[in-house]
Amino acid sequence: MEQILEKDPHNALALYGRARSLDSLAEVERSNARLEQSIFAYRAVLDLEDQVDDHLYHKSALRCIDRMRFRGFHGKAIRIQQRLVARFPNDIEYQNQLAIGFLLTNQPEAARTILEGVLNRWPQSGFAQVHLGFILKTTYDDYDAGARWMMAGIASREEGVIDGRFYSHLGDALTRLGRHEEAQRIYADGEKEGVFRSHDQRSLYNVDRLTAQPWWDKEATTYGPFFDLLEANWRQIRNEGVALLTLETPEGFANESEKLRDSGDWKQFELFAQGRKNAAHCTKAPVTCTLIENYPPALCKRGQVKFSIMHPGTHVWPHTGPTNCRLRAHLGLVVPSGAKLRVGNTTKSWEEGKFIVFDDSFDHEVWHNGSSYRLVLIVDLWHPELTTDEWQSLAPI
Ligand code: LMR
Ligand code: MN
Repeated sequence: MEQILEKDPHNALALYGRARSLDSLAEVERSNARLEQSIFAYRAVLDLEDQVDDHLYHKSALRCIDRMRFRGFHGKAIRIQQRLVARFPNDIEYQNQLAIGFLLTNQPEAARTILEGVLNRWPQSGFAQVHLGFILKTTYDDYDAGARWMMAGIASREEGVIDGRFYSHLGDALTRLGRHEEAQRIYADGEKEGVFRSHDQRSLYNVDRLTAQPWWDKEATTYGPFFDLLEANWRQIRNEGVALLTLETPEGFANESEKLRDSGDWKQFELFAQGRKNAAHCTKAPVTCTLIENYPPALCKRGQVKFSIMHPGTHVWPHTGPTNCRLRAHLGLVVPSGAKLRVGNTTKSWEEGKFIVFDDSFDHEVWHNGSSYRLVLIVDLWHPELTTDEWQSLAPI
């Protein structure tokens, strides 16, 4: 092969052969340097442009993109995708994949432009429809157009469209448009298609065998002694939380960032995330953090510990958390009347110095119609049926 290249440096097959062998070597040696050599070698094939046939061009480009993504070169991968689109302008697949490339690199505007172009030429592409709808809903807050596109895309049943993310954002868009019955039908369809555990338990990162119920008795969680201990210390926890309220942002409470609010003012002060302590924040709430730190089930890699303050006039849209692997416990710290939490079909209120425990993978919604702020400590704990081996092996969220 190297001999061929010496005589004929533009021999496409030989260049491809060199790329393949560097590619295999990189895997054997687990070497990034070698991997990058193989990436350059694949690109050398593409640089031959007209001198390489479509089949080889396609093969080299796809492997080149795959290896670039593996190496974390997402921007470079997009430029190869753009070359594919330029060479094969009539192939819808390359354009849809380019849009996904833009989405993966957090460039929804660019993805939108590509998808709109696709839909001009191929109005029936369900794949382009769901993704355009998703972008209009999540980036542009255009619930009406977002819902229309996602609905059309799902109806196509094309590969890739029967996906929990689309069902969930479609239902949410309809809810926000006040079309509650349609939203419920979408969630029921999602259950039927198996993208949700049930119409009202819509988390997407799940362990299937776990007991699922919206509300939990403190004792049934097996974490009773921990709840008792924090309840016994609730005044100190409250004092730490209240003292934090006078801090100026950015040190202080941060606005809820997931666009869950319909109206009002809702902020959080994070102490632990993904099982890890926020050291800077914990120096400002040492008693609370020590209580948490000494209790391994509360160092949940799929959850957080945080103070949550909600002001009067707040409504949080119905939503579900990302995973069924945690239970969410709220310790009431400052609880005026007029604030309430619905999980599934049951609505409850907080009590100062007492925990309530729910599973936030179920549909839940919050209102505060009172006249002064509500403060709670939120503690996520591993679902009691997970093993400590699973605590280790589950990917953090
Ligand atoms: C939630 O977990 O979505 C809310 O219950 C949080 C809060 O502060 O009430
Ligand atoms: Mn929530």
